[in-house]
Amino acid sequence: MEMMIRGRRNRRTAAVRGLVRETRLHVEDLILPLFFHIDGDDVAIESMPGCTRWSLQGLVAEVKSAYSLGIRAVVLFPKIEEDLKSPNGAECANDSGLVPTAIREIRKACPGMCIITDVALDPYNSDGHDGIVVKEGGKLEILNDETVEVLCAQALCHARAGADTVAPSDMMDGRVGAIRVALDEEGFTGVGIMSYTAKYASAFYGPFRGALDSAPKEGDKKTYQMDPGNAREAIRELLMDEEEGADIVMVKPAGPYLDVIARLRDETTLPIAAYQVSGEYLMIKSACSGGWLDEKAVVMESLLGIKRAGADMILTYFAKDVASWLKNSLE
Ligand code: PBG
Repeated sequence: MEMMIRGRRNRRTAAVRGLVRETRLHVEDLILPLFFHIDGDDVAIESMPGCTRWSLQGLVAEVKSAYSLGIRAVVLFPKIEEDLKSPNGAECANDSGLVPTAIREIRKACPGMCIITDVALDPYNSDGHDGIVVKEGGKLEILNDETVEVLCAQALCHARAGADTVAPSDMMDGRVGAIRVALDEEGFTGVGIMSYTAKYASAFYGPFRGALDSAPKEGDKKTYQMDPGNAREAIRELLMDEEEGADIVMVKPAGPYLDVIARLRDETTLPIAAYQVSGEYLMIKSACSGGWLDEKAVVMESLLGIKRAGADMILTYFAKDVASWLKNSLE
């Protein structure tokens, strides 16, 4: 056949494929989410096989182990004891609470690690919602402005303990701007905000809520998290977060929302993070544990897809596996 153009020429050898490859994963792209609690034991998380809820000591060791693999960012998720939970989640701003203690320990043991903290009330709130709940005439309402005040106190508490970046995952209106002002007023102008900009009301968070025992006691999160059918609305959230001073914007979940990542990529010059959430993790894990899929190949492809869509960084429970695979592939 006579053909001027043959696409297969650029796929002929591994060397050529390497030259023309458009997207690559680096260990610097990865953010490792970590679960921990006050108990002395490291506990396997039933809803997320392969993940552990660490003791403080175990957490610090895990951070060091991640660092030695090249991972430079972690995000912290605490499981709070039931008797510390309250309707307004006040424990979230306790300077000697679990999260600030963990931040200080990690900072001491692993000074180079970027420490990102989750800002939301669901681990602290007796209702399991990201904001303060009131019930009127049997109807649940999540208060916005009152919640934002508590979130500011929580962000300040994390900043005082030494967090590099706070990540509001609550989806209350106006929280990014309010947190920015609160941080700046206390002199924390260098503490960044990674905003959960387009966080969808997704069924893929189930295993995470199992890990932290943080599922809503009543109702769902649809009055604050976004409707899965909406993409234009993500741009609206993006514009607000940009105006309010977000440093990094996030799309969550990642895999089922690649179009949203791509649209945000077109609309913003800010770095974009994507969160491969617990349900995405569990789907891959389950399929691979049955031998139906090749775990390494599928994980790498799922993350590459997220990067190709436009994400600069990815939060993933596979971060340590990926870091060691990437390391070995260079050797
Ligand atoms: C809580 C929070 C959630 C996740 C991260 N922060 C759960 C939720 O919003 O219900 C989910 C992460 C995952 O599923 O891996 N604000």
